[in-house]
Amino acid sequence: MKTLKLAIVGLGRIGKIHLKNLCRNYPEVIVVGAMDVLDASRRIAEESGVRHFVQTMDELIGLPDLDGIVICSPTNTHADYVEKAAKSGKQIFCEKPLDLSLDRVQEVLAIVEEMGVGLMLGFNRRFDPEFKRIRELVVNGSIGDPQIVRITSRDPEPPPVEYLRVSGGLFLDMAIHDFDMARYISGKQVKEVYAKGAVLVDPEIGKVGDIDTASIILTFEDDTMAIIDNCRRAVYGYDQRLEVFGSKGMAQAENNFANNHRLYTESGVSSALPLHFFLERYGASYHQEMREFIDALVGGTKMPVDGNDGLMSLAIGLAAKKSVEENRPVRISEIM
Ligand SMILES: NC(=O)c1ccc[n+]([C@@H]2O[C@H](COP(=O)([O-])OP(=O)(O)OC[C@H]3O[C@@H](n4cnc5c(N)ncnc54)[C@H](O)[C@@H]3O)[C@@H](O)[C@H]2O)c1
Repeated sequence: MKTLKLAIVGLGRIGKIHLKNLCRNYPEVIVVGAMDVLDASRRIAEESGVRHFVQTMDELIGLPDLDGIVICSPTNTHADYVEKAAKSGKQIFCEKPLDLSLDRVQEVLAIVEEMGVGLMLGFNRRFDPEFKRIRELVVNGSIGDPQIVRITSRDPEPPPVEYLRVSGGLFLDMAIHDFDMARYISGKQVKEVYAKGAVLVDPEIGKVGDIDTASIILTFEDDTMAIIDNCRRAVYGYDQRLEVFGSKGMAQAENNFANNHRLYTESGVSSALPLHFFLERYGASYHQEMREFIDALVGGTKMPVDGNDGLMSLAIGLAAKKSVEENRPVRISEIM
């Protein structure tokens, strides 16, 4: 069995999940290094048995015999780190989005291609067992020709305003997962985006130029549609539902709950709340996406989610932003 030496950048919310998976779940992987600008993250690396903790990317890339780098630092660092990693010949996993500028993403993707390294984007929801099953039902024709995709994606609470400031905003930080899901589940390309956005949860979010609530209609090349609704706060937990309606039926993935029992009494019916947030809801997907990244590295096969997927979802996000600003449908061809 080939051993892969990997390193990780950024040990925050998502970095800790990937680090834990990488250290525990794949016998062919050794995490040889971790990098974070915060010295306090040293302890996290040490607790996972990672030998080298460094605070610059150059030191990390300089670790001997490193095969690949998993990038989980804030969005505004991704493009530079991917570029550095690619130029030093490392295989790359990068959290979404790759960057907030289409030009910069295209520039970085050209470098990745020129260097001949693999790049996988962290659209983890494609690896969720429920959503994978819906995709299978679409592909095997169980629901006929898909006509409408519906995605509900609401967070239990907004992230800190400091996070939002560099996140790219609701469309590029949060809904970008849904744009990727719409493309994945339908297997189609989006041609037009019509979005509405508002600040209904917290005025502080509006003060940093963001929105916290949105409704989006995507039109695919063949005039079929996806309807997405997002909110940064759902008081009952993480609301993640998917439905595909087609000519022969409908496939639905409901929320996941901590348990499935219900209590019926004379005052009503009660059940558990949806699993609270991404850490709880998408645990299996993070594990499986890293499994498939490693398989692609070991087998030398195509990455299951590639740079072009990152580029297209970003283009949809930018079209959604423009649509809200100009209060009109925006074609992807205006953005690309
Ligand atoms: N796929 C998913 O489900 C998912 C979930 C959450 C976040 N994300 C993405 O992951 C990225 C990180 O998000 P997060 O929620 O973990 O953020 P976070 O703020 O919790 O963690 C970021 C970490 O990076 C470190 N850091 C800051 N600047 C750095 C730099 N210049 N170099 C290296 N490390 C640096 C911070 O000290 C912190 O430890 C974002 O791009 C976000 O969009 C993806």
